[in-house]
Amino acid sequence: MKISKKNLISLVQNTETYNNPKIILEQYCINATCAVDIIYYAGFEYDDISNAVVVDLGSGTGRLSIASAFLNAKFILSVDIDIDVVNILNRNIKSLDLTSVIFPICADIKYFEISKKNLPENTKITTIMNPPFGVQSRHADRIFLEKAFSFSSIVYSIHLGGQKVQKFISNYIQKFDWMVDNILPYNMILENTYPFHTEKSKKIDINIYRFIRKE
Ligand SMILES: C[S@@+](CC[C@H](N)C(=O)[O-])C[C@H]1O[C@@H](n2cnc3c(N)ncnc32)[C@H](O)[C@@H]1O
Repeated sequence: MKISKKNLISLVQNTETYNNPKIILEQYCINATCAVDIIYYAGFEYDDISNAVVVDLGSGTGRLSIASAFLNAKFILSVDIDIDVVNILNRNIKSLDLTSVIFPICADIKYFEISKKNLPENTKITTIMNPPFGVQSRHADRIFLEKAFSFSSIVYSIHLGGQKVQKFISNYIQKFDWMVDNILPYNMILENTYPFHTEKSKKIDINIYRFIRKE
């Protein structure tokens, strides 16, 4: 699909977002520019999108999934626990005519598995995720990493910036056969989503982690 980056950002920006976000699930919609920047980073710096199976864990309303579809992912599995959100995702996919590329799945990622039996050998599985940061439900981010590591070839994951989080992640992943390959610092705009958000939008420091399997 041929589309300029500018038009892709505007297309993603115009998708439907959460209409009744649930704080306990840390439902924040990623800023459109950030979503497209990440997919461009994975797609053009590393060639991890085109022709890959993309898994979007905690997909929300599908911004990362939609951007991946336009960068020619083979297909995308978009998993979210909340059926209200999956319904919005479905509407977004239908209105953009992406039903043959993006497959929404309503599931707790804890129970989500991928069988590689029916995939051609050497299929690259790229997981891209913007998981809950674990602010509302402690350690919510850990299960996302653990799950992604269980079936992926490459993992991209967004986490809060700062040395403390970075240290935690480096320590946490030691028990898996995975390592941090690169960390991209990024200033993400968080739109006002909940009544306790007093500003219209806020810049937050995040790190985009690229994880690879140890040799
Ligand atoms: C920070 S939001 C990110 C949404 C979307 N990926 C984006 O970037 O706009 C996290 C998403 O994870 C979902 N979620 C939280 N816990 C989950 C779980 N255990 N299984 C599946 N989805 C979950 C929430 O419903 C929410 O949509």
